[in-house]
Amino acid sequence: MPPSTDHATALELPRLRASDGFRAPATEVADLPGPRTVPLLGNAHQLRAGAAHACLEQWAAEYGPMYRFSAGAMPIVVLSDPVLIGEILRHRPAMFTRGVRLATAIDEVGLAGLFTAEGERWRRQRKLVMRALTPDAVRHFFPIIHTVTARLLARWREAARTGAAVEVGRDLKCYSIDVTTWLSMGVDVDTLNHADDPLQQDVEFLFETLGRRFLKPFPYWRYVRLPADRRADAAVARLNRTVDDLIAQARARMAADPALAVRPGNILEALLVARDEPGSEFTDEDVRGNVATMLFAGEDTTANAMAWLLMLLADTPGPAARVGEEIDAVLAGESLVPEFGLLARLPWLEAAAVESMRLRPIAPQNGATARVPVDLGGLRIPAGQTLIMLSRPTALDGARFEDPLSFRPERWLGDQSEGADDPRRAIFPFGGGPRYCPGRYLAMVEIKMVVAMALGNFRLAIDPAARIEEHFTFTMGPSSLPLRFTAR
Ligand code: HEM
Repeated sequence: MPPSTDHATALELPRLRASDGFRAPATEVADLPGPRTVPLLGNAHQLRAGAAHACLEQWAAEYGPMYRFSAGAMPIVVLSDPVLIGEILRHRPAMFTRGVRLATAIDEVGLAGLFTAEGERWRRQRKLVMRALTPDAVRHFFPIIHTVTARLLARWREAARTGAAVEVGRDLKCYSIDVTTWLSMGVDVDTLNHADDPLQQDVEFLFETLGRRFLKPFPYWRYVRLPADRRADAAVARLNRTVDDLIAQARARMAADPALAVRPGNILEALLVARDEPGSEFTDEDVRGNVATMLFAGEDTTANAMAWLLMLLADTPGPAARVGEEIDAVLAGESLVPEFGLLARLPWLEAAAVESMRLRPIAPQNGATARVPVDLGGLRIPAGQTLIMLSRPTALDGARFEDPLSFRPERWLGDQSEGADDPRRAIFPFGGGPRYCPGRYLAMVEIKMVVAMALGNFRLAIDPAARIEEHFTFTMGPSSLPLRFTAR
């Protein structure tokens, strides 16, 4: 049991490091600066669905790198000092858990897996998932990524032939769901070629549900189901049936080939082996939750990162030309990157991807809840305090990045020591510390394959009628991205 707050204030609290010169504006949460609250709602009414991140960033501009707001009765501390953020991420899972509000909302839609697990359960699941997503494992699956990229190319060639604008956000979501499902479960669902696939739509709707519930001052859905909640229940039931089918197929494969129990071929098989070990503490729910977590964590994230990058490249001819030259040299007349090893010869493209994540992070905020009382640069927080960490105030800080609003991939080229001064350490596109994203290597491979295919085969133009806005649910992506493709 953690010490109570009163008891803890009498003790020396563990103190986390902040940037040189940073000093908390108050010693107690209640005294922090922040927007005025109203009874019952706090500030929940000001956080518009789809744009909550923009509101939190606007308040950071007004109140500085440490402020508070209230979601209903719950006070939340918002931070944007990068050193403090790095320390919080590093001290998980011992001193901080994931933000309880989001974690509870995710668990409530039946998706309890690595993303929301804590303590010993998290440690066990993390080992399994990490093993399935190592660079070597991803290299082994290159033919699958190649096949799915070829399907996307065929779709975009057809669009180029007809001249129709393509809603690439939808295509990229199907692409990443196809790759993730095939890699982590060994099944080719091919949502790309099945228009309006229910799996992709259900995953999308559950993201919306999470984003909506996260903002509510009161968890009404625990007491009454509105139509949107009933729709979410139906989506969860369908998703569970799909996952159960995938599990049944994996069990059948493993029964037919006992060698898979020794060397599982994918993450689902590895989870089933762990589940079946004598004395295993893994449950069927753990297996199911982690299969669904892969879909959730691997789909919107990667798809939105690719969408923002394509948008920036379509919109910025200079960097697009430089990245395109490099791609042409690597493709050498092929329409897709033919070999895994060649992906390492795309430093400009990699730099463009990092630069895109600086300007348009798919995770502009990350949450944490303190497990113990702790001192954050002079602010004393009690156990149970929820924090939100914002990355963009630093990412767009002119003191750190010259001409911060411009898309300049070259700022990430050259000697990247990844030492303490590496600015990459300040923007956390994949999180940080022991819970950093285990899918980041896979994501970069998908991003490079798709963008090399797009720039190598087509000229891209944003449809002039497009109105592209940032839309935040569980991740932040473009509200719409209609692109026209012209064959090169
Ligand atoms: C560009 C694509 C991606 C981005 C930007 C991204 C970003 C992130 C971020 C910011 C976190 C939170 C990390 C933290 O709290 O420190 C995270 C966690 C996670 N990501 Fe990703 N992600 C991407 C793709 C993927 C993919 C492809 C997968 C798997 C197929 C994946 C699986 C996960 C999982 C399982 C976690 C939870 C890890 C844990 O709690 O231990 N992600 N990701």
